[in-house]
Amino acid sequence: MSQTGFLTLDEVAQNLKVTRQTVSKYIKKKALNAVKINKSYRITVNDFENFVNANATAQKPSISYLRRTKNCTLQYSDKSEESEIISGVFHGELREVGQSTTGSSNQFIFGDNYYVLKKLLETHKGQIDLVYIDPPFGTGQDFNSIDEHSAYSDKLVNSEFLEFIRKRLFLLRELMSDAGSIYLHIDKKIGHYVKIVMDEVFGYQNFINDITRIKCNPKNFARNAYGNYSDTILYYAKNRDGQIWNDIKEPMSNEKRKQLFPKKHPKLGFYTTNPIHAPGKTVNGDTGLEWKGLKPPKGRHWRYSREVLDELDNKGLIEWSSTGNPRKIVLADEHKGFKIQDLWEFKDKGLSYVDYPTQKNFDMLERIIRNSSNQDSIVLDCFAGSGSTLRVANTLGRNWIGIDNSTHSLEVIKATFAKDQMEYDVLEYVPLD
Ligand SMILES: C[S@@+](CC[C@H](N)C(=O)[O-])C[C@H]1O[C@@H](n2cnc3c(N)ncnc32)[C@H](O)[C@@H]1O
Repeated sequence: MSQTGFLTLDEVAQNLKVTRQTVSKYIKKKALNAVKINKSYRITVNDFENFVNANATAQKPSISYLRRTKNCTLQYSDKSEESEIISGVFHGELREVGQSTTGSSNQFIFGDNYYVLKKLLETHKGQIDLVYIDPPFGTGQDFNSIDEHSAYSDKLVNSEFLEFIRKRLFLLRELMSDAGSIYLHIDKKIGHYVKIVMDEVFGYQNFINDITRIKCNPKNFARNAYGNYSDTILYYAKNRDGQIWNDIKEPMSNEKRKQLFPKKHPKLGFYTTNPIHAPGKTVNGDTGLEWKGLKPPKGRHWRYSREVLDELDNKGLIEWSSTGNPRKIVLADEHKGFKIQDLWEFKDKGLSYVDYPTQKNFDMLERIIRNSSNQDSIVLDCFAGSGSTLRVANTLGRNWIGIDNSTHSLEVIKATFAKDQMEYDVLEYVPLD
């Protein structure tokens, strides 16, 4: 199994128990989709899965085996088969609640997300570019809002909780597009078990990051333990390296600006200077020759050709010291920001400042949505709570679908979305059995 979510033709042949030539024939006949990487053909696990499903024989190769590379999964009682979860049929429909539709593709669906996700597979299979979920964490607690309104109950624990999540993850994977990704928010007590479940569902090779999020101020409790002020976001792609990745950067803080660009230019703003030479001697080239009466220092060469150095100097981008030493001016305004690392600080507000208990930080959601979806993407949150993901997705011009089965969530969503003048339809899952 390749480490990148792709299979070689030999791996496909081995799994289908056919020859490599037969696999090539499938590709030529366009029965099996292949991508050319450098000079070789590769098949995504997804395309392989589609091929297997479309040409199912009595002896299907084990797809879940293909998705794993660590050769192990969690074992517990009452663990359902993947095929049963995906193919099991329930009779139910999504009915509009309230007035006529707004004509918007944005939807909030009231109901148990297991049935709703299954229903969505009929209309949205392979269409969701981004999933953000913040499920209950298997804490065994009830969550109320500040006015003692019951919001939701988190009573499933241990393996029952893991199976609850696992089932929904399989359905989410089916809904995700080939460029899709999923962020799952979880705490550190159960997160490591959930990560193994995600490996099983999405494939270890599709794991991208385990993000530590600082969620609150440091704690000062009496327990003999370190303060636990962070939680975890597990980030996986449907096909690693094929996922939407907008490479947004961490903007430079004022503090960093002062540290990195301490000087102020009357016209160009804040700046710093860098040497215009680098280690290594040029033997014959232009970058070893004299420029403006100066040779590069011993064992070094000019970083730029002398023509570029002239251009920079003409634009006023070379600073000459009182002793005649030239350095290149680097402007703070041209700094593109920093690569985002896997430690994030986005503290949630206290209960008295939020619309719903466990409401997540909007800036954190903005980072996720900006980075991992595009304007035409559909963003899905099937544990929507206060609808924070949906609100941020809406502000960023994304399409969205939210699901929750708490009446308090529905009330909060209706009230806050009306204030924001958001256009969307409310639907309800109604079982027909
Ligand atoms: C931790 S809260 C989500 C909070 C949300 N991220 C926010 O920022 O407001 C978890 C949500 O999952 C919902 N939930 C739990 N089980 C569910 C199920 N089976 N179907 C739909 N929603 C469910 C709960 O009602 C609750 O609103």
